[in-house]
Amino acid sequence: MSGHGDPIPMMSRKGGPLSGTANVPGDKSISHRSLILGALSVGKTEITGLLEGQDVLDTAKAMEAFGATVTRHGEGEWSVEGVGVGGFKEPEQVIDCGNSGTGVRLIMGCMATSPISATFTGDASLRKRPMGRVTDPIGLFGARSYGRAGGKLPMTIVGAAEAAPVSYTTPMASAQVKSAVLLAGLNAPGQTVVIEKTPTRDHTERMLRGFGAEISVEETPEGHKITLQGQPELVAQKVAVPRDPSSAAFPVCAALLVPGSDILVPGVSQNPTRNGLFLTLKEMGADIEFLNEREEGGEPVADLRVRYSELHGITVPAERAAAQIDEYPVLSVVAANATGTTIMPGVHELRVKESDRIDAMARGLEACGVTIEEDEDTLIVHGMGPGNVPGGATCKTHIDHRIAMSFLVLGLASQQPVSVDDGSPIATSFPVFESLMAALGAQIERTA
Ligand code: S3P
Repeated sequence: MSGHGDPIPMMSRKGGPLSGTANVPGDKSISHRSLILGALSVGKTEITGLLEGQDVLDTAKAMEAFGATVTRHGEGEWSVEGVGVGGFKEPEQVIDCGNSGTGVRLIMGCMATSPISATFTGDASLRKRPMGRVTDPIGLFGARSYGRAGGKLPMTIVGAAEAAPVSYTTPMASAQVKSAVLLAGLNAPGQTVVIEKTPTRDHTERMLRGFGAEISVEETPEGHKITLQGQPELVAQKVAVPRDPSSAAFPVCAALLVPGSDILVPGVSQNPTRNGLFLTLKEMGADIEFLNEREEGGEPVADLRVRYSELHGITVPAERAAAQIDEYPVLSVVAANATGTTIMPGVHELRVKESDRIDAMARGLEACGVTIEEDEDTLIVHGMGPGNVPGGATCKTHIDHRIAMSFLVLGLASQQPVSVDDGSPIATSFPVFESLMAALGAQIERTA
């Protein structure tokens, strides 16, 4: 798992229609934050629906290393006894965040304004990813960082003993960077301000408010401005984690591509900072109904009924990129099965995810017979029409869960089976992917 264990080669192939109900796991972003905010609160936070993927388990372990008491009570049911804002103790061991950029960047933020040091590392994928985007702003609070060349892990952060509050405009659309700054601001006196040019997922803001912080959001000529009042007392909460739209994307797209399919995906978050894929799919002609719209755990959710659809290519608005940033890999698979060309501009952030996702998808799709164009910021897929992708290749997953699941969805609709060299990273975000897809009738198997 997380690139530490043996590779798990897998293969998918064409079969009958997909049907039934897909109860996808809890949202990964909200799961990380519920553990972290629980650890920074006074009292016992009770969590239901927590994603028990490896990324989140690594964050749970890290919170224990900083002094919180984290307990599993049953499937998805966890509690965190927090140490309060400013109460983190210095960990005795290196913090291994596995495959998780969200885990490491958010945790660096929340220890950066305490007078402690911590050393962070991760798997081979995470050790390639840039941390300067977080160490730059936490440096403004007074934290120091000592990492490898290019701001890579392993890295030691020495927290600021007397933090000063910060006003920071994020240079890239990144909820991880925004969240790291806000979490650092918790233990600084006065107001910490983050300005984003493009709004990104807002779970940190929503949850901080829910845990009792004073936080305001306004649109200004400079951008989307978030102001946090420092040194609040965060109070333990009950958190019900909604289901993850980024995981729902895989059964949803599979049902759209496999003829005759008709599935239900209940309780999926429709937070407007996360629902870009569903808007894009509708514009491509997808038959998706949003049923029983309601609020759960502070997030808008809906049950999705998804039926096989013949889709056409579109130009995806660049300003929608942040709201579907994790869904481009599977969208490129959908685009390959659409009629006409799909142009995806404004996607340069995909180059610094768990893998370079533009490159990983382009190479794998090409190997399966699809024509691709790419530049630093754009991916263009020339659709072959429903069911016309030849397939028949083995695609490299580069220790990236979403690349692995995307190519396995491709194989369900291709003329020949599609293989992946390593499906083990799927466990980081969607540990029940294989059983859930099998229950819908998908032909996905391990090949070793
Ligand atoms: C996440 C933010 C996004 C996303 C990641 C989860 C978060 O990353 O890709 O899967 O929970 O804040 P960036 O902040 O790098 O865009």
